[in-house]
Formats: sequence, structure tokens, C-alpha cells
Amino acid sequence: MDKKNAAITGVGICVPNQVLTNDEVAKYTKTTAEWIESRTGISKRRIASPEQAASDLGVIAAEQALTNAGLSAKDVDLIIAATATPDMLFPATACIIQHKLGLKNTAAFDLEAGCSGFIYALNVGSHFITSGQYRTVLVIGTEVLSRLLDWEDRETSVIMGDGAGAVVLQPALPGYGILSCCLGADGSGGEYLRLPAGGSRMPITHQAIDQKMHLFKMNGPEVFRFAMQKVPEAINQVLALSQTSLEEVSLIVPHQANLRILEAVARVMDISMDKFIVNMDRYGNTSSASIPIALYEALAEGRINHGDHIVLTGFGAGLTWGSIHMCWQAK
Ligand code: COA
Repeated sequence: MDKKNAAITGVGICVPNQVLTNDEVAKYTKTTAEWIESRTGISKRRIASPEQAASDLGVIAAEQALTNAGLSAKDVDLIIAATATPDMLFPATACIIQHKLGLKNTAAFDLEAGCSGFIYALNVGSHFITSGQYRTVLVIGTEVLSRLLDWEDRETSVIMGDGAGAVVLQPALPGYGILSCCLGADGSGGEYLRLPAGGSRMPITHQAIDQKMHLFKMNGPEVFRFAMQKVPEAINQVLALSQTSLEEVSLIVPHQANLRILEAVARVMDISMDKFIVNMDRYGNTSSASIPIALYEALAEGRINHGDHIVLTGFGAGLTWGSIHMCWQAK
């Protein structure tokens, strides 16, 4: 079989209309707009409306990605939805999106790797193209984290936002598309980012709710340290795999968690901040949606051109991390 790399041929996003500023967040918890901005780089985020769940944002992003690829839903062979905030535990959000796209029989499944979910899903999706099993794969990152936040918890409520991003993967031209991927996980750090109740370990009970166990918990400083170590490692590792130097990379599209993390990574790796796409100021941390949203905006701003080497890199709950190096294939 003729093995082909996978290329992104269309990107789409959906960010909810409602904007929540730092001043508004500061009404619910003991913080200030200035603290949030100076310690995270975030000044506002989008919040889904009460009737919007992950599949509602995901399907809009998916439709836009398909339009931008010049395709329609019936062309899709497989849908992978990366989400830590699915519509419900089951059925999979990818199946709900499949139905909303008017499809029947198309394979669909969810993938949960916290904020690294999009990187994991893109890597998995690329193998279905490379193996020749499928020709068109939709990879979606979609999150409604606002629904799982304790708005009185000043560590978590100030950083998260809602949104979705989607890409279409198809066989690449020779030399283009995804050139290398690396993934990693360290389950011993699972306690640093978790949602304790609602699974088989701790069902949702009145007691669990009283103790706020159904809401997102984070150890911010531990996650910060982990990210500072793993992001440079994952970028170096993925470039070593494709024998490419950092100088050849024109743009890094990172998970949007905290501007100080990116500044520290830039310092450690001796890279200019101009090489990083940064949009957390407007959207906060949208978990598995942050990388496709940043990618979409980079394309819209004309910062990615045919033949450019770019690196996508993420980290998150699990703990998990990963990077993808691609040579951009324009239409
Ligand atoms: N407003 C005001 N003060 C706050 C605050 C807030 N929202 N959050 C924490 N503080 C306080 C702390 O209580 C602490 O006070 P103290 O010195 O009196 O004890 C002080 O600020 C420093 O706390 P610390 O937790 O060290 O702050 P920080 O600079 O590390 O910032 C985070 C906190 C959460 C913004 C930061 O740790 C972070 O971004 N971590 C990574 C999180 C992440 O990326 N999560 C998603 C992973 S995908």
C-alpha cells in the first residue's frame, strides 16, 4: 500500500458569543482583574450559553473545517472528538456530532487526554490516513469547561474558557503534512488536574456535590512546573524524530494555558516569543480546543504559508503531553 503522510486540509472553530472579562470573574472569587492578567496573560474568555454543550460547539467547528477543505460531511470516514467535557459520559460526543452532521455509519469515537487531547487525537487520526484505512478524518477539540468550574476557586475559575476547533486530515502531497509526532504521559501526576466525582470511582451523590467533588480541581504550581519541563522536551523530541532544527521552524502553536509558561519556555529554548501563537488573552485556556483555535487564527492572520515548518505542542491532565511537527500544505 502507498503510505502517505496526513495533512490538515481545513480548519474551523466555534467560540461562544458570551464574553466574560476578568472584572466579571473577580465578582465571584477573591482575585482582581490585574492579578489574572499579570499572572496568566488572560484578560477575557468565552462562555457557552446554557443550552450549548461540547457537541454543539464541536459540530459548528467541524462544519467550518469541512467547508474550508472544500468537502461536505458525507466525505468524512472517521470522527475523533477530543474532549474532557463531553455532553455526557456516554454515548461519545463524536457520535452525537456524527448524528448532527447528518451522517450514518461513519466511525466516531472520543479521546480523552486532558488539554493534550487535540495533539493525541491528531496523532491517532494521522495513522488512519497513513495506514490507508481512511482518506478523510475529522479531528475535533471541544470543551465547555465553564460548566465544571467552581467559580469560588480562584486558581481554576480565572484561567478556563469554552470553545471548539476542528481540522480535516487527508493524504498529503509528498514531503508535506505531519512529519513526526511524540506523545507522553505520567499517571503519577494525575492528582494535579482532576475531576473526582461523576465516574465509577466516586458517583455523584449529595455528599460529593456538597464537597464540590463534581468540579475541576488543580494544583497550579505543580502543573506550571510540569509544563515548563515537558514542553521544551516534547518540542526537541519531535524535531529530533524528523531531523529538523528549531531554526527551520517558523511557528509554534502551543496549548494556551498561561503566558508565563510560554515565556519561560521561550527563554529556556532561546526562541523569540514572536515564534509562538498567543491568543489566551482573548479565550483563556480552552483545553483540547486551544491548539486548533490558535491554528485557525494563525492561518487567518497569514502567519502560516505553504512549506512552512510548524510545531503544535500541548500538555495537560493525565499528566499528558505531546508535540506534532508538520510541513504546512496550503490548498
Ligand atoms: N488571584 C489572586 N491571588 C491568587 C490567585 C488569584 N486568582 N490564585 C492564586 N493566588 C495567590 C495564592 O494564594 C498565593 O498567595 P500567597 O503567596 O499569599 O500564598 C499567590 O497568589 C501565589 O500562588 P501560586 O499558586 O504560586 O500562583 P501562580 O503564580 O503559580 O499562579 C496559576 C497560579 C494557577 C495561575 C499558575 O500556577 C498556573 O497557571 N499554573 C498552570 C495551570 C495550568 O496550566 N492549568 C491547565 C493545565 S492544561
